Amino acid sequence: MTYVRKEVIGDQTLYLGDCLQVMPALGEVDAVVTDPPYGMSFQSNHRAVSHRNIANDGSTELLSWACRIKPDHSAYVWMRWDNLADVPMPRSLITWVKNNHSMGDLEHEHGRKTEVCGFYKGPNHFFPQKRPCDVITAPRTGNEHHPTEKPVTLMHQVVAWTAGVVVDPFMGSGTTLVACAKMGRKGIGIELDPEYFDIACERVRDAYRQPDMFVTAPTPAPKQETFL
Ligand SMILES: C[S@@+](CC[C@H](N)C(=O)[O-])C[C@H]1O[C@@H](n2cnc3c(N)ncnc32)[C@H](O)[C@@H]1O
Repeated sequence: MTYVRKEVIGDQTLYLGDCLQVMPALGEVDAVVTDPPYGMSFQSNHRAVSHRNIANDGSTELLSWACRIKPDHSAYVWMRWDNLADVPMPRSLITWVKNNHSMGDLEHEHGRKTEVCGFYKGPNHFFPQKRPCDVITAPRTGNEHHPTEKPVTLMHQVVAWTAGVVVDPFMGSGTTLVACAKMGRKGIGIELDPEYFDIACERVRDAYRQPDMFVTAPTPAPKQETFL
């Protein structure tokens, strides 16, 4: 497999590399929870910490690729509502209601306080707990680990709808894997940018050090048990 670095921290495996090269080597995956570049060419000038441009954010190609991964259980892929024209039609669209306006689009008639996530059902899908609704309310993170950082509480709720090993091919600062670590779930993350990869490793280490880990019991794993 082609990757630059691999770190195993608890039940989390983090790859520094290009997900287009790493993913095929993982074989069939159980679940995907990811937040790919949306094609926004995003760089915010309104942050306390200035961040670099997000790699590969100039088109929706990788978003569309992520929506076409066929996991055994499920895929949850974050996007903007207007990306729907570029991706296979999800089975449902999860709406995240947050307490701040979304980035970009400052000229739009309506200030946006929601983001959406496409749900793609795998052949062995089931809900580990009761049937959820399609709205999640979670406050934004005040952190500056990454310009498009998702809150751990948000990713936690999405990971709870999946089963087995969770793969995030665009892990950024590692939020999905932090949620997995706190839930006693196995995760695999891939990140192209070495600075965000290092931040992800540090956050996952911290998650295992903190006392609030294992907030929910692990869900049963259908298949994928081996890490490369
Ligand atoms: C929208 S951000 C994810 C942010 C993440 N949800 C968080 O909370 O920090 C997408 C990430 O994908 C990474 N990326 C872009 N192209 C990639 C590729 N081909 N392989 C792996 N990572 C890639 C970018 O560097 C960026 O950090």
